Amino acid sequence: MKKSLLWLLLAFIPTLLPTFLSISAWAVDGEKVYEQKCAGCHTLYIPVEELMANFTEHNNTKLRLKAPTVNQLAYRLKQRIGDPKGDKDMQLMEVASFVHDYVLHPDRQKSICMPEVLAYFQTMPSLEGKIGDEELEAVAEWLYFYMPPAKKAKKVSFVDFESAKKEALETGKIIMIEVTSPTCHYCVKMEKTTLKEPEVIEAIERDFIPVRIDVSRQALPAGLSYAMTPTFFFIDSRGRLLKKIPGAWMRDDFLQILREVKKKADTVKDGGKK
Ligand code: HEC
Repeated sequence: MKKSLLWLLLAFIPTLLPTFLSISAWAVDGEKVYEQKCAGCHTLYIPVEELMANFTEHNNTKLRLKAPTVNQLAYRLKQRIGDPKGDKDMQLMEVASFVHDYVLHPDRQKSICMPEVLAYFQTMPSLEGKIGDEELEAVAEWLYFYMPPAKKAKKVSFVDFESAKKEALETGKIIMIEVTSPTCHYCVKMEKTTLKEPEVIEAIERDFIPVRIDVSRQALPAGLSYAMTPTFFFIDSRGRLLKKIPGAWMRDDFLQILREVKKKADTVKDGGKK
């Protein structure tokens, strides 16, 4: 009985082996491949405005690029190969096959970059024999899903109340306490919309120290009380309550609230000095 089980297992090994191999191939890290085999010529991220100035005003003398940057490559691949508005998996396959072909058999005729920019570059040397199929697939996929750092979702970074008090004393910034609970629909909505808006994040980072209190786990500090979630409290560095405001807010209204609170904090501060 036991022996036959062993044979059964052994019989399976040849079928399992290829699966293992393809799993390890799949695990090739596209970003690493790019850094090792492409970044020597195709530099990492450079903001579009800088690229434009470099090529249109300075004849590439400022950045002295040898090849399109990673963001140019990623952008053009997505724009020019396959159907940008069509099925994502389909386009990824087309991009992968274009990259595979281009890296092994570069050809100016097949180029997808802006001709004005391309004019500054030599034709890419073939990497045939220097790169494997799995690496090519991984690097193509990484390029396809590449996101410029600036576009990555930033978010408000909340701190605890004690650190906020210290920071407020040092910087004079206003403490903004958001009172939330996990079952609060409008808190989640605000977190996913308003608090993701770059202008809101910027305004908060500039003048405020954000604290989030989850009332299902924590008590409100400083003797504060609330009737609903979300509620926002704004407290100045001396512990004075500047404003308490319940409800969720859209971007422009929330920005307006932040501006008013900041103004009030400044008047209170000036008043205190006199
Ligand atoms: C020795 C320098 C060099 C290396 C290494 C290199 N490239 Fe290139 N590559 C270039 C140059 C120069 C161009 C622009 C001229 C051209 O299209 O041939 C280019 C163009 C391309 C293009 C076509 C874009 C276009 O329309 O111009 C793709 C796609 C590309 N490279 C992918 C890669 C990938 C992926 C790697 C790494 C696996 C890589 N390259 C490594 C120099 C290089």
